[in-house]
This record gives sequence, C-alpha cells and structure tokens, in this order.
Amino acid sequence: MKKNILYFLALSIFVTSCTFENATPLPVGCNATIYYGTDILPIMNANCVSCHSAGGTGSGPGDYTLYSDIKAADMKIKNRIFDKNSPMPPAGSTPLTSDQLSKLNCWIGQGAPNN
Ligand code: HEC
Repeated sequence: MKKNILYFLALSIFVTSCTFENATPLPVGCNATIYYGTDILPIMNANCVSCHSAGGTGSGPGDYTLYSDIKAADMKIKNRIFDKNSPMPPAGSTPLTSDQLSKLNCWIGQGAPNN
C-alpha cells in the first residue's frame, strides 16, 4: 500500500512537471505586443502572399491575405520560417530579416491574435 502511494506521488510529480514543461512560455524577448494589422500583415504581403493566395503564382497552400488562413497555419508557419532544410520563404526568395522572424515568432507565441 505504501508502495502504491509512492508510485502515485512519483507519477503525479512526473505528470505535473510534464504539463509545466509543455506549457509554451512566451519566446524570449517577446515582451512587447506584436500586432497582426501593423506588424504581421505587411510581412505576409511582402514575403508570402505572392505564393500563398488565390492569385498567387507559386502554388503555396492557403490564402495568407486572410487572417483565418494564417491563424489556421500558425504553428506550421512558426516551424517553416525556422526550418533550415525546407525554409519559408523557399530558397530563391528574399529571406526574412531577423526582425521579421522575431515578430512572427513573438506574435504566434502570443497566440496569433487578430489585433
Ligand atoms: C516562392 C513561393 C513561396 C513563397 C514566397 C512562400 N511560400 Fe510557403 N510554400 C510554398 C509552396 C509551393 C509550399 C508547398 C510545398 C512545401 O510545403 O514546401 C509552401 C508551404 C508552406 C507551408 C506549409 C503549409 C502546409 O500546409 O503544410 C507554410 C507554413 C508556409 N509555406 C509558410 C510560408 C510563409 C510564412 C511565407 C512567407 C514568410 C511563405 N510560405 C512564402 C511557396 C512559397
């Protein structure tokens, strides 16, 4: 019985610590609020929409002129802009600046709000 209680305690500590680690903290340096309208939309328009939109030429999925499509792909966007093997925008396009990368990263970290 004592053993069971110990197992239970160990398990609860394990589960709690996992939950804690999985809670995504705000990325470092993301204290300032990033705005969809003034920060993110201009990046999308300049660097992504040429391919990711109905009228786009590069056949990227989704329509990044729409907040709903960006929001639906937010975690994929976060992964692909930092993906060394298969980056977005793809090789051959103008790469994102570190300022643009950090804005996207922070905005998505802040929950990708329509602000
Ligand atoms: C030159 C055209 C082009 C540009 C510019 C471009 N993309 Fe893409 N993107 C593609 C294509 C084509 C695919 C589909 C093939 C792939 O996944 O690599 C894609 C795939 C993606 C995916 C994966 C979508 C999914 O559902 O799996 C994401 C996320 C993405 N792009 C984000 C972006 C972001 C953010 C930008 C701008 C910072 C951008 N892309 C700029 C062409 C482009």
